[in-house]
Amino acid sequence: MEFEKDILCIGAGYVGGPTMAVIADRCPHYRVTVVDIDEDRIRAWNSDRLPIYEPGLDEVVARARGRNLFFSTALEDGIRNSDIIFVSVNTPTKTFGQGAGRAADLQYWEKTARQILRNAESHKIIVEKSTLPVRTAAAMERILNAAPDGPRFDVVSNPEFLAEGTAVRDLESPDRVLVGSRETPEGVQARKAVVEIYANWVSRERILESNIWSSELSKLTANAFLAQRISSINSISALCEKTNAVIDEVAYAIGTDSRIGSKFLKASVGFGGSCFKKDILNLVYICENYGLEEVARYWESVVRINEWQEKRFVRNILSNLFDTVAGKRVALFGFAFKANTGDTRESPAIYVARGLLEERARLVITDPKALGNARAVLADVDGNVSFEEDPYKAAEGAHAIAVLTEWDLYRGLDYERIYRSMVSPAFIFDGRNILDHQKLYEIGFNVFAIGKAPLKHFK
Ligand SMILES: NC(=O)c1ccc[n+]([C@@H]2O[C@H](COP(=O)([O-])OP(=O)(O)OC[C@H]3O[C@@H](n4cnc5c(N)ncnc54)[C@H](O)[C@@H]3O)[C@@H](O)[C@H]2O)c1
Repeated sequence: MEFEKDILCIGAGYVGGPTMAVIADRCPHYRVTVVDIDEDRIRAWNSDRLPIYEPGLDEVVARARGRNLFFSTALEDGIRNSDIIFVSVNTPTKTFGQGAGRAADLQYWEKTARQILRNAESHKIIVEKSTLPVRTAAAMERILNAAPDGPRFDVVSNPEFLAEGTAVRDLESPDRVLVGSRETPEGVQARKAVVEIYANWVSRERILESNIWSSELSKLTANAFLAQRISSINSISALCEKTNAVIDEVAYAIGTDSRIGSKFLKASVGFGGSCFKKDILNLVYICENYGLEEVARYWESVVRINEWQEKRFVRNILSNLFDTVAGKRVALFGFAFKANTGDTRESPAIYVARGLLEERARLVITDPKALGNARAVLADVDGNVSFEEDPYKAAEGAHAIAVLTEWDLYRGLDYERIYRSMVSPAFIFDGRNILDHQKLYEIGFNVFAIGKAPLKHFK
């Protein structure tokens, strides 16, 4: 069959996989190929057990795979045969050299650009799908257009705003799609070609066009604002605990103000995920480079409050378990950084687990989707840690439960049964404020939530 467009995506991760699956599903007239250097990942994308868990993703992939959606490791062929190349490789925080711990590590991006340059035989549109520092496109253009009589490349920015856990819904019905390019005739033409893809299922007024630097910077700014809301409400949660105010009541009261809005105001043990921290630190680094010290410090504090919130949570467990958890069994309910994903990157659970293990607690971790990743993340610890699918078994014989992921499952458990199986006095630390605290208290638990006075059976 002849396809209208040949689209390639380099990087079959949490963004590349679902994004391309939805494009292929919605556009049967395009051929969409996703390539990756990770053979295991590609094998998993071609199997019945996809490498990532996202509600609805299995169905989308099942409809399109083999029809017009292909997963492969044949990078060179993919580059040669495509008109439009999305690049969705990882852009982690640099761990070495200048900017270590803050700047984005662009080595994977640059390698990809050079692979494209080596293999392309005709004009290509290169789409920045990864989150990148503002002005990366300028560097990319310089690399790609290094060969004077090679094919021409146009770089377009199309940052991804999907949230893990709701990726398919976000891709099928996005708040907006953003496409930025140079304002030259070639740039605008390339931008229109990318807009045309989304226009197959996204209404025209939700597809925003902008200059390329605005597009790059909008993604970093969106993540900074989202994380800032969490750090803002978390900072107030600490004040609630001192004053007997209740954070969920405060959040509700302020969220009804339409200027503030109600979303992203849930106090918790902290935000995680691969993006917020890295993108904010990258923003901080960029500001510093431009001599904007005050702006850098302002955004850096969002990350610092988050770290402080995680630390506070561990300290709270320790001090309420009579200043020692050594040898005590503590059950962690949830390890994913949020519900409906198996992703554990930068999950607050990692910090909490390591903190408790340092104090020699005996940890048992339960999570419906993230146990594989939890095992991998904690592979280096030599503490006492085990993994258990069944939350009831995880809680058996435990002194305390710490809820670290807001899985619906944990709301509906039989806490009377759990209480009976635990060591007395039994403690619950609800790091996501999802449980019925009064009811737990009446069952007999000592209950510690975020941003409200504890419910204790002793002074
Ligand atoms: N995860 C999210 O929720 C999210 C949301 C929006 C934007 N982003 C951004 O999207 C980008 C990708 O994120 P992700 O979560 O999908 O990362 P990921 O680590 O899950 O996937 C990246 C993939 O790229 C592959 N890769 C790296 N170099 C390659 C190369 N030279 N050739 C072929 N494949 C290569 C890796 O093997 C990996 O499978 C990042 O810049 C991230 O900031 C992520």
